[in-house]
Amino acid sequence: MNQNKRVLLIISGGIAAYKCLEVIRRLQDHNISCPTILTKAGAEFVTPLSVSALSGGKVFQDLFDLTDEQEMGHIRLSREADLVLVAPATADIMAKMASGQANDLATTALLATDKPVMVAPAMNPMMWQHPATQANLETLKERGVTIVGPESGDMACGEHGAGRFVEPAVLVSSVVSFLNQSQNLKGKTALVTAGPTREAIDPVRYISNHSSGKQGYAIAEALVSAGADVTLVSGPTKLAPPTGVNFVPINTADELLAASKAALPTDIAIFAAAVADYKVANAATQKIKKKDGKAPKLEFEANPDILATIASIKKGRPDLVIGFAAETENLIKNAQSKLKKKDCDWILANDVSEKTGTFGGDASEVHLVKSNANESWGHQSKQATARQLVEAIAQELKG
Ligand code: C5P
Repeated sequence: MNQNKRVLLIISGGIAAYKCLEVIRRLQDHNISCPTILTKAGAEFVTPLSVSALSGGKVFQDLFDLTDEQEMGHIRLSREADLVLVAPATADIMAKMASGQANDLATTALLATDKPVMVAPAMNPMMWQHPATQANLETLKERGVTIVGPESGDMACGEHGAGRFVEPAVLVSSVVSFLNQSQNLKGKTALVTAGPTREAIDPVRYISNHSSGKQGYAIAEALVSAGADVTLVSGPTKLAPPTGVNFVPINTADELLAASKAALPTDIAIFAAAVADYKVANAATQKIKKKDGKAPKLEFEANPDILATIASIKKGRPDLVIGFAAETENLIKNAQSKLKKKDCDWILANDVSEKTGTFGGDASEVHLVKSNANESWGHQSKQATARQLVEAIAQELKG
């Protein structure tokens, strides 16, 4: 890595803390500096002296150290980093992060940061599998925290199972690839559609679907971290718009089309929204009243296909138009015919058969389908899929 990057390393208390010394050294091999916060429990496993000898800088330990508050308060400390890395992350610090506690320097910095956070858990297998830890893990993932590891194997406590700190080399390569992709779409513009649409039946009722918007939001977030200028056009979801996007809320497919057109021209357009295929042609202007024995009859008409419309624009078409296909069978074949039908460049084919838990979940099983090739990206978090997509886009636009 030629640019100097900065990772704020937070070492919490676990036997794996000693492995962080190697992480610090290897990060430096990549020109990544490593200001470090050592928690009270962390300092039971590694000394501040050994950490600062390797990191070549001061080790921060006390929230109320006035000198540090003057020189570099916890807010600056957490904001000047390109990435905040919690390694090893104990069950305790993950619980504190999930519940938003801020009772020491590490947790305060984690709450105050506006930078991406990566967590490498390490703990006893029973603690890792405990529903409380797993629920905290889900909360962190939902908030976009990147989780690296843990691995399975023999533990220092004599037990066997999942909970081992990831190998330092693996953690360092995750950090490096995360930081490397950081700005590789600088200067590029992107449109992302996400979430469901709502089609009115009358002023108080509508037809919609279960789309959570998670994948589209994760993509918009990954594009922003890669330096792109992103417009996110989204139907109603429970998610907060990622920091830095130009957010355009919509309800109907017609509004989605208008907002998408208004966002053009862009270099990249990604259509992750679950658009209703039909709208109610005879939507009532007043609330439909219940009439005994007489159910209302709804008539439908087709909605515009936003992806196909924008992919077929002659002048000012985005360089890369990417659609999604949710399939329960014949995944690749159906995605390839969708690619042709909609005239887009790539399709991310999503296996939404029940076993994959894709719908509404945090993970997905995706294949990238192009006109002449396809590759499986395996089962991974929607954030990881988003980063991999951004990486593939950057490669494509470079070449
Ligand atoms: O046709 P189908 O719904 O399977 O196609 C999925 C892809 O097309 C997704 O990328 C979706 O966002 C996009 N789409 C769209 N407008 C529609 C229907 C689907 O943009 N009306």
